[in-house]
Amino acid sequence: MKIEDIKSRRILNSASKYTIETKVVLEDGSTGIASIPGGLSKGATEVATVEPNQAIKNITDLTEILTTKVFDNVHELDKFLIEKDGTENKSNLGGNTILSLSIAFTKAKAKSEEKETYQYIAELAGNTHKFKWPKMMMLMLEGGLHGSSDATIQEFMAIVDTVDRGVEIYNKIKEELKRLGKSTNVGAEGAFSPDGYDNEQTLSLLSGFLHGEKIALDIAVSSFENKNVLPDYESLLKNYPIASIEDPYDEKDWTNWELFGEKYTEKIIVVTDDITTSNPKLLKKAIEKDIGNAILVKPNQIGSVSETLDVIRMAHNSGWQVVVSHRGTDTNDDFIADLAVGSGAEFTKFGSPARGERIAKYNRLLEILE
Ligand code: PGA
Ligand code: ZN
Repeated sequence: MKIEDIKSRRILNSASKYTIETKVVLEDGSTGIASIPGGLSKGATEVATVEPNQAIKNITDLTEILTTKVFDNVHELDKFLIEKDGTENKSNLGGNTILSLSIAFTKAKAKSEEKETYQYIAELAGNTHKFKWPKMMMLMLEGGLHGSSDATIQEFMAIVDTVDRGVEIYNKIKEELKRLGKSTNVGAEGAFSPDGYDNEQTLSLLSGFLHGEKIALDIAVSSFENKNVLPDYESLLKNYPIASIEDPYDEKDWTNWELFGEKYTEKIIVVTDDITTSNPKLLKKAIEKDIGNAILVKPNQIGSVSETLDVIRMAHNSGWQVVVSHRGTDTNDDFIADLAVGSGAEFTKFGSPARGERIAKYNRLLEILE
Protein backbone atom coordinates (compact mmCIF):
# COMPACT_ATOMS: atom_id res chain seq x y z
CA MET A 1 0.00 0.00 0.00
CA LYS A 2 1.29 3.42 -0.92
CA ILE A 3 1.36 6.36 1.43
CA GLU A 4 -0.59 9.27 -0.03
CA ASP A 5 0.41 11.98 2.40
CA ILE A 6 2.20 12.65 5.69
CA LYS A 7 1.83 15.63 8.00
CA SER A 8 3.59 16.25 11.28
CA ARG A 9 2.90 19.03 13.74
CA ARG A 10 3.79 20.20 17.23
CA ILE A 11 1.44 19.36 20.10
CA LEU A 12 1.83 19.83 23.85
CA ASN A 13 2.60 16.91 26.15
CA SER A 14 1.64 16.44 29.80
CA ALA A 15 4.71 18.35 31.01
CA SER A 16 3.84 21.54 29.07
CA LYS A 17 6.53 20.86 26.48
CA TYR A 18 6.17 20.30 22.78
CA THR A 19 6.28 16.92 21.08
CA ILE A 20 5.21 15.75 17.63
CA GLU A 21 1.99 14.35 16.26
CA THR A 22 2.23 12.69 12.88
CA LYS A 23 -0.58 11.78 10.49
CA VAL A 24 -0.13 9.19 7.76
CA VAL A 25 -2.74 8.92 4.98
CA LEU A 26 -2.70 5.82 2.79
CA GLU A 27 -3.80 5.87 -0.84
CA ASP A 28 -7.16 4.30 0.04
CA GLY A 29 -7.79 7.22 2.43
CA SER A 30 -7.11 5.28 5.66
CA THR A 31 -5.44 7.49 8.25
CA GLY A 32 -3.39 6.95 11.37
CA ILE A 33 -2.28 9.58 13.88
CA ALA A 34 0.46 9.09 16.47
CA SER A 35 2.07 11.32 19.06
CA ILE A 36 5.26 10.61 20.94
CA PRO A 37 5.75 10.58 24.73
CA GLY A 38 8.94 11.45 26.61
CA GLY A 39 10.62 10.30 29.80
CA LEU A 40 11.27 12.07 33.09
CA SER A 41 13.62 9.35 34.32
CA LYS A 42 15.08 8.26 31.00
CA GLY A 43 17.46 5.34 30.58
CA ALA A 44 20.93 6.27 29.32
CA THR A 45 20.74 3.75 26.45
CA GLU A 46 17.44 4.95 24.99
CA VAL A 47 17.57 5.98 21.33
CA ALA A 48 18.23 9.64 20.58
CA THR A 49 15.43 12.09 19.89
CA VAL A 50 15.51 15.33 17.94
CA GLU A 51 13.71 18.57 18.78
CA PRO A 52 10.08 18.69 17.55
CA ASN A 53 10.82 21.28 14.83
CA GLN A 54 13.70 19.15 13.56
CA ALA A 55 11.51 16.01 13.58
CA ILE A 56 8.86 17.85 11.57
CA LYS A 57 11.50 19.00 9.10
CA ASN A 58 12.88 15.45 8.83
CA ILE A 59 9.38 14.13 8.11
CA THR A 60 8.74 16.85 5.53
CA ASP A 61 12.04 15.96 3.84
CA LEU A 62 11.19 12.23 3.89
CA THR A 63 7.66 12.66 2.54
CA GLU A 64 8.64 12.76 -1.11
CA ILE A 65 10.48 9.44 -1.05
CA LEU A 66 8.02 7.79 1.36
CA THR A 67 5.08 8.61 -0.94
CA THR A 68 6.73 7.01 -3.96
CA LYS A 69 7.46 3.65 -2.35
CA VAL A 70 5.17 0.74 -1.54
CA PHE A 71 5.26 -0.60 2.02
CA ASP A 72 3.29 -3.79 2.50
CA ASN A 73 3.58 -3.65 6.25
CA VAL A 74 5.16 -1.63 9.03
CA HIS A 75 8.26 -3.87 9.08
CA GLU A 76 9.13 -2.69 5.57
CA LEU A 77 8.61 0.95 6.52
CA ASP A 78 10.67 0.57 9.73
CA LYS A 79 13.49 -1.18 7.87
CA PHE A 80 13.60 1.61 5.30
CA LEU A 81 13.64 4.34 7.97
CA ILE A 82 16.26 2.58 10.11
CA GLU A 83 18.54 2.16 7.09
CA LYS A 84 17.95 5.76 6.05
CA ASP A 85 18.89 6.91 9.55
CA GLY A 86 22.02 4.78 9.45
CA THR A 87 23.03 5.15 13.10
CA GLU A 88 22.93 2.70 16.02
CA ASN A 89 20.84 5.05 18.20
CA LYS A 90 18.68 6.77 15.56
CA SER A 91 20.45 10.08 16.18
CA ASN A 92 20.21 11.14 12.55
CA LEU A 93 16.45 11.15 12.03
CA GLY A 94 15.52 10.84 15.71
CA GLY A 95 13.76 7.94 17.44
CA ASN A 96 10.73 10.21 17.88
CA THR A 97 10.61 10.95 14.14
CA ILE A 98 10.80 7.26 13.17
CA LEU A 99 8.39 6.03 15.84
CA SER A 100 5.72 8.59 14.97
CA LEU A 101 5.76 7.42 11.34
CA SER A 102 5.86 3.79 12.43
CA ILE A 103 2.87 4.00 14.79
CA ALA A 104 0.82 6.26 12.49
CA PHE A 105 1.42 3.84 9.60
CA THR A 106 0.47 0.86 11.81
CA LYS A 107 -2.83 2.49 12.75
CA ALA A 108 -3.57 3.48 9.15
CA LYS A 109 -2.73 0.01 7.84
CA ALA A 110 -5.02 -1.61 10.42
CA LYS A 111 -7.86 0.65 9.29
CA SER A 112 -7.13 -0.08 5.66
CA GLU A 113 -7.44 -3.81 6.42
CA GLU A 114 -10.62 -3.10 8.41
CA LYS A 115 -9.05 -4.36 11.61
CA GLU A 116 -8.64 -2.91 15.04
CA THR A 117 -5.06 -1.84 15.74
CA TYR A 118 -4.63 -4.58 18.36
CA GLN A 119 -5.78 -7.21 15.85
CA TYR A 120 -3.27 -5.98 13.29
CA ILE A 121 -0.52 -6.01 15.93
CA ALA A 122 -1.44 -9.57 16.92
CA GLU A 123 -0.95 -10.60 13.29
CA LEU A 124 2.38 -8.79 13.06
CA ALA A 125 3.45 -10.46 16.28
CA GLY A 126 2.33 -13.85 14.98
CA ASN A 127 -0.13 -14.26 17.85
CA THR A 128 -2.79 -16.76 17.02
CA HIS A 129 -3.95 -17.28 20.59
CA LYS A 130 -7.15 -15.85 21.99
CA PHE A 131 -6.70 -12.32 23.28
CA LYS A 132 -6.02 -12.18 26.97
CA TRP A 133 -6.68 -9.27 29.24
CA PRO A 134 -3.45 -7.95 30.77
CA LYS A 135 -3.28 -7.34 34.49
CA MET A 136 -2.75 -3.70 35.37
CA MET A 137 0.02 -2.28 37.52
CA MET A 138 -2.05 0.77 38.44
CA LEU A 139 -0.25 3.68 40.05
CA MET A 140 -1.54 4.84 43.43
CA LEU A 141 1.27 6.90 44.96
CA GLU A 142 4.43 8.39 43.53
CA GLY A 143 7.72 9.68 44.88
CA GLY A 144 11.26 10.24 43.65
CA LEU A 145 11.57 12.43 40.56
CA HIS A 146 7.86 12.03 39.77
CA GLY A 147 6.41 13.24 43.06
CA SER A 148 6.78 15.67 45.92
CA SER A 149 6.58 13.37 48.97
CA ASP A 150 9.58 12.16 51.00
CA ALA A 151 9.46 8.75 49.31
CA THR A 152 12.55 7.91 47.27
CA ILE A 153 10.77 5.06 45.45
CA GLN A 154 9.27 6.42 42.25
CA GLU A 155 6.12 4.32 41.83
CA PHE A 156 3.81 2.49 44.24
CA MET A 157 1.31 0.45 42.22
CA ALA A 158 -1.48 -2.01 42.95
CA ILE A 159 -1.71 -5.02 40.65
CA VAL A 160 -5.39 -5.24 39.70
CA ASP A 161 -7.48 -7.34 37.30
CA THR A 162 -10.06 -4.66 36.55
CA VAL A 163 -10.07 -0.90 36.04
CA ASP A 164 -12.98 -0.70 38.49
CA ARG A 165 -11.01 -2.22 41.33
CA GLY A 166 -8.02 0.03 40.65
CA VAL A 167 -10.23 3.11 40.66
CA GLU A 168 -11.81 1.98 43.92
CA ILE A 169 -8.42 1.70 45.64
CA TYR A 170 -7.33 5.05 44.18
CA ASN A 171 -10.44 6.82 45.46
CA LYS A 172 -10.19 5.20 48.91
CA ILE A 173 -6.63 6.54 49.25
CA LYS A 174 -7.85 9.97 48.18
CA GLU A 175 -10.62 9.94 50.82
CA GLU A 176 -8.16 8.87 53.50
CA LEU A 177 -5.69 11.63 52.58
CA LYS A 178 -8.51 14.18 52.72
CA ARG A 179 -9.58 12.87 56.11
CA LEU A 180 -6.01 13.27 57.36
CA GLY A 181 -5.85 16.82 56.00
CA LYS A 182 -3.15 15.83 53.51
CA SER A 183 -2.77 17.10 49.97
CA THR A 184 -4.52 15.14 47.23
CA ASN A 185 -2.59 16.96 44.50
CA VAL A 186 -1.17 14.50 42.01
CA GLY A 187 2.29 13.94 40.56
CA ALA A 188 3.57 13.49 37.01
CA GLU A 189 1.63 10.29 36.37
CA GLY A 190 -1.55 11.14 38.27
CA ALA A 191 -0.83 9.58 41.67
CA PHE A 192 -0.86 11.07 45.14
CA SER A 193 2.37 12.25 46.64
CA PRO A 194 1.54 13.53 50.13
CA ASP A 195 4.06 15.59 52.05
CA GLY A 196 5.94 13.83 54.79
CA TYR A 197 5.34 10.27 53.58
CA ASP A 198 8.51 8.24 53.23
CA ASN A 199 8.78 4.83 51.52
CA GLU A 200 7.48 2.79 54.45
CA GLN A 201 4.65 5.18 55.32
CA THR A 202 3.57 5.18 51.69
CA LEU A 203 3.65 1.37 51.60
CA SER A 204 1.61 1.16 54.82
CA LEU A 205 -0.98 3.56 53.46
CA LEU A 206 -1.35 1.58 50.21
CA SER A 207 -1.36 -1.83 51.93
CA GLY A 208 -4.29 -0.74 54.09
CA PHE A 209 -6.58 -0.52 51.07
CA LEU A 210 -5.73 -3.82 49.39
CA HIS A 211 -7.99 -6.86 49.56
CA GLY A 212 -5.53 -9.53 48.58
CA GLU A 213 -4.07 -7.51 45.70
CA LYS A 214 -0.31 -7.28 45.53
CA ILE A 215 1.99 -4.27 45.21
CA ALA A 216 4.34 -3.48 42.33
CA LEU A 217 7.16 -0.98 42.89
CA ASP A 218 9.33 0.92 40.43
CA ILE A 219 12.35 1.92 42.48
CA ALA A 220 13.93 3.78 39.50
CA VAL A 221 17.33 3.83 41.19
CA SER A 222 19.06 5.36 38.15
CA SER A 223 17.20 8.60 38.97
CA PHE A 224 17.97 8.59 42.72
CA GLU A 225 19.59 11.72 44.09
CA ASN A 226 21.62 9.55 46.45
CA LYS A 227 22.33 6.13 44.97
CA ASN A 228 24.16 5.05 48.13
CA VAL A 229 20.93 4.96 50.12
CA LEU A 230 18.75 2.23 48.63
CA PRO A 231 15.66 0.70 50.21
CA ASP A 232 16.20 -2.49 52.23
CA TYR A 233 14.50 -4.89 49.81
CA GLU A 234 14.63 -7.88 52.13
CA SER A 235 12.73 -6.06 54.82
CA LEU A 236 10.23 -4.41 52.44
CA LEU A 237 9.39 -7.82 50.97
CA LYS A 238 8.95 -9.24 54.45
CA ASN A 239 6.68 -6.46 55.67
CA TYR A 240 4.48 -5.62 52.69
CA PRO A 241 2.62 -7.67 50.04
CA ILE A 242 5.04 -6.84 47.24
CA ALA A 243 4.90 -9.05 44.14
CA SER A 244 7.00 -7.02 41.71
CA ILE A 245 10.08 -4.80 41.83
CA GLU A 246 11.36 -2.74 38.88
CA ASP A 247 14.82 -1.19 38.61
CA PRO A 248 16.18 -2.05 42.10
CA TYR A 249 19.70 -0.99 41.04
CA ASP A 250 21.31 1.58 38.79
CA GLU A 251 21.25 0.94 35.04
CA LYS A 252 25.05 0.46 35.00
CA ASP A 253 25.24 -1.77 38.05
CA TRP A 254 25.06 -5.22 36.37
CA THR A 255 26.86 -6.82 39.34
CA ASN A 256 24.18 -5.95 41.88
CA TRP A 257 21.44 -6.68 39.36
CA GLU A 258 22.85 -10.18 38.94
CA LEU A 259 22.89 -10.76 42.67
CA PHE A 260 19.34 -9.44 42.97
CA GLY A 261 18.18 -11.63 40.08
CA GLU A 262 19.75 -14.70 41.63
CA LYS A 263 18.04 -14.05 44.92
CA TYR A 264 14.58 -12.95 43.80
CA THR A 265 13.57 -14.13 40.30
CA GLU A 266 12.15 -17.35 41.79
CA LYS A 267 10.11 -15.37 44.32
CA ILE A 268 8.83 -12.18 42.70
CA ILE A 269 8.53 -10.40 39.36
CA VAL A 270 11.81 -8.58 38.70
CA VAL A 271 11.24 -5.93 36.01
CA THR A 272 14.05 -4.39 33.98
CA ASP A 273 13.53 -0.88 32.59
CA ASP A 274 16.50 1.52 32.49
CA ILE A 275 18.96 -1.36 32.16
CA THR A 276 17.25 -2.83 29.05
CA THR A 277 15.48 0.23 27.53
CA SER A 278 13.29 -2.00 25.29
CA ASN A 279 16.42 -2.89 23.33
CA PRO A 280 16.71 -6.47 21.99
CA LYS A 281 20.51 -6.47 22.40
CA LEU A 282 20.31 -5.37 26.03
CA LEU A 283 17.47 -7.78 26.73
CA LYS A 284 19.62 -10.61 25.33
CA LYS A 285 22.37 -9.70 27.80
CA ALA A 286 19.84 -9.40 30.63
CA ILE A 287 18.45 -12.87 29.84
CA GLU A 288 21.95 -14.39 29.67
CA LYS A 289 22.89 -12.84 32.99
CA ASP A 290 19.52 -13.82 34.47
CA ILE A 291 19.00 -10.45 36.13
CA GLY A 292 15.20 -10.45 35.91
CA ASN A 293 12.11 -12.20 34.61
CA ALA A 294 10.07 -9.36 33.09
CA ILE A 295 10.86 -6.39 30.84
CA LEU A 296 9.24 -2.99 30.75
CA VAL A 297 8.48 -2.10 27.14
CA LYS A 298 8.23 1.54 26.09
CA PRO A 299 8.15 1.92 22.29
CA ASN A 300 9.90 5.29 22.35
CA GLN A 301 12.93 3.82 24.14
CA ILE A 302 13.74 1.90 20.96
CA GLY A 303 11.97 3.98 18.32
CA SER A 304 9.98 1.67 16.02
CA VAL A 305 7.02 -0.70 16.16
CA SER A 306 9.02 -3.57 14.62
CA GLU A 307 11.82 -3.43 17.18
CA THR A 308 9.24 -3.12 19.97
CA LEU A 309 7.60 -6.33 18.74
CA ASP A 310 11.05 -7.96 18.43
CA VAL A 311 11.86 -7.27 22.06
CA ILE A 312 8.46 -8.55 23.19
CA ARG A 313 8.90 -11.74 21.16
CA MET A 314 12.39 -12.29 22.55
CA ALA A 315 11.10 -11.84 26.10
CA HIS A 316 8.23 -14.28 25.64
CA ASN A 317 10.45 -16.85 23.91
CA SER A 318 12.74 -16.77 26.94
CA GLY A 319 9.94 -17.14 29.45
CA TRP A 320 10.07 -13.50 30.52
CA GLN A 321 6.88 -11.53 31.10
CA VAL A 322 6.16 -8.20 29.44
CA VAL A 323 4.92 -4.94 30.98
CA VAL A 324 3.82 -2.44 28.31
CA SER A 325 4.37 1.04 29.71
CA HIS A 326 3.52 4.71 29.27
CA ARG A 327 6.09 7.48 29.98
CA GLY A 328 6.41 10.12 32.67
CA THR A 329 5.68 12.74 30.04
CA ASP A 330 2.89 11.50 27.82
CA THR A 331 0.17 12.43 25.34
CA ASN A 332 -3.39 11.28 24.68
CA ASP A 333 -2.17 8.66 22.20
CA ASP A 334 -3.66 5.30 23.22
CA PHE A 335 -1.58 3.04 20.95
CA ILE A 336 0.09 1.24 23.87
CA ALA A 337 -3.27 -0.21 24.96
CA ASP A 338 -3.54 -1.91 21.56
CA LEU A 339 0.12 -2.91 21.75
CA ALA A 340 -0.39 -4.57 25.14
CA VAL A 341 -3.44 -6.58 24.07
CA GLY A 342 -2.18 -7.41 20.57
CA SER A 343 1.26 -8.54 21.70
CA GLY A 344 -0.08 -10.67 24.55
CA ALA A 345 1.67 -8.65 27.25
CA GLU A 346 1.04 -9.93 30.77
CA PHE A 347 0.86 -6.46 32.34
CA THR A 348 0.22 -2.80 31.59
CA LYS A 349 1.72 0.17 33.40
CA PHE A 350 -0.36 3.20 32.40
CA GLY A 351 -0.13 5.33 35.55
CA SER A 352 -3.07 6.40 37.70
CA PRO A 353 -6.72 6.52 36.73
CA ALA A 354 -6.34 10.33 36.59
CA ARG A 355 -4.95 12.92 34.13
CA GLY A 356 -6.24 12.79 30.55
CA GLU A 357 -3.10 11.26 29.04
CA ARG A 358 -3.31 8.25 31.41
CA ILE A 359 -7.11 7.97 31.19
CA ALA A 360 -6.85 7.74 27.38
CA LYS A 361 -5.01 4.42 27.71
CA TYR A 362 -7.40 2.96 30.30
CA ASN A 363 -10.40 4.02 28.23
CA ARG A 364 -8.94 2.33 25.16
CA LEU A 365 -8.38 -0.86 27.19
CA LEU A 366 -12.03 -0.73 28.25
CA GLU A 367 -13.09 -0.22 24.65
CA ILE A 368 -11.02 -3.22 23.52
CA LEU A 369 -12.50 -5.32 26.32
CA GLU A 370 -16.03 -4.48 25.09
P1 PGA B 1 9.89 7.92 32.67
O1 PGA B 1 10.06 6.69 33.66
O2 PGA B 1 9.50 9.09 33.50
O3 PGA B 1 11.28 8.09 32.08
O4 PGA B 1 8.89 7.56 31.65
C1 PGA B 1 9.01 5.90 34.07
C2 PGA B 1 9.61 4.63 34.57
O5 PGA B 1 10.73 4.68 35.12
O6 PGA B 1 9.03 3.56 34.41
ZN1 ZN C 1 10.91 2.46 35.42
